[in-house]
Amino acid sequence: MPHRIEELHRRFDAELKQVTGLEALLDLRDRYLGREKGILSQELKRLGRLPKDHRPEYGRLANQLKDYIEGEIQSLTARLRQQEEAERLNQEHIDLTLPGRAYPTGRPHPLVLVKRQIEEIFVKMGFTVVDGPEVDTDYYNFEALNMPKDHPARDTQDTFYLSEEFLLRTHTSPVQIHYMEKHQPPFRIVVPGRVFRRDNPDPTHSPMFFQVEGLVVGEAVSLADLKGTLEFFLRELFSPDTRARFRPSYFPFVEPGAEVDISCIFCRGTGCRMCKMSGWIEILGAGMVHPKIFERVGYDSQTVSGFAWGMGVDRIAMLKYGVDDIRLFYENDLRFIEQFS
Ligand code: PHE
Repeated sequence: MPHRIEELHRRFDAELKQVTGLEALLDLRDRYLGREKGILSQELKRLGRLPKDHRPEYGRLANQLKDYIEGEIQSLTARLRQQEEAERLNQEHIDLTLPGRAYPTGRPHPLVLVKRQIEEIFVKMGFTVVDGPEVDTDYYNFEALNMPKDHPARDTQDTFYLSEEFLLRTHTSPVQIHYMEKHQPPFRIVVPGRVFRRDNPDPTHSPMFFQVEGLVVGEAVSLADLKGTLEFFLRELFSPDTRARFRPSYFPFVEPGAEVDISCIFCRGTGCRMCKMSGWIEILGAGMVHPKIFERVGYDSQTVSGFAWGMGVDRIAMLKYGVDDIRLFYENDLRFIEQFS
């Protein structure tokens, strides 16, 4: 009956060819080699029913086939395991040469950088940083600063009114009044903050921008102190060879008042496009606090004196960084913003 064994052999070979995975292979093994119901076990059980002289030959062939099947299954198992491992490694493969992911980090806005720098210089000189409300009253923004309702100086400040009484402050000077109402001299403060004017945006105007106010009050504070303080500040902010020029000017809340220019930081005073060939660039307004202001907040204008100034952070940032359009600061274009540090 050897042809039965041969037939089984062929069947097994054919089925083995179909196997593509480990699971199917285990099934195949069980089906042929399973101890009870395995095809081969069944076949060997038939042995007893065969004529005696056929048994040894049949048994030998059957056992040969069993060994063969075991061998085939073992080697295919090893191959399939290897294949699976290779696939797994391939999936888990990490390319160590790939560039890392860049996680973008935030950074301070150029106006924040300049504001901080201004604050640092004044803190070094013993000033305190103070802030005040962006929405204020007509009284603090104008009246208390010697600008009654019919005062011509109001015309130069196009104001966003919220109501008869409330407005968006047009400068940081109202904080002078708030502070003096609550504190006694001597003191030195700087007040950074947003201010608002009804200007149409153009390269030098923005309806919202930043100012830093300064106020020093004490006994015998003089115009020389004002000059010395601002000259020191401007040299720290720009460069040690920066010169300052004080031109008489008018602000209702100071007397005398001045506009302060610095020697052009681009041409060092020889004249260029940036300073319109004048050699000077206007940088801030300043003056000695008007006695009427002191009286309004209850100070004795006979014994105290002081000086104040106000300057635009945007303008300073534009000069320092060579930015020619103030609107760039407010468009939040990262390609612009990310250039500063
Ligand atoms: N507040 C004035 C302005 O916005 C600047 C200034 C402040 C002038 C303090 C003198 C003293 O134009």
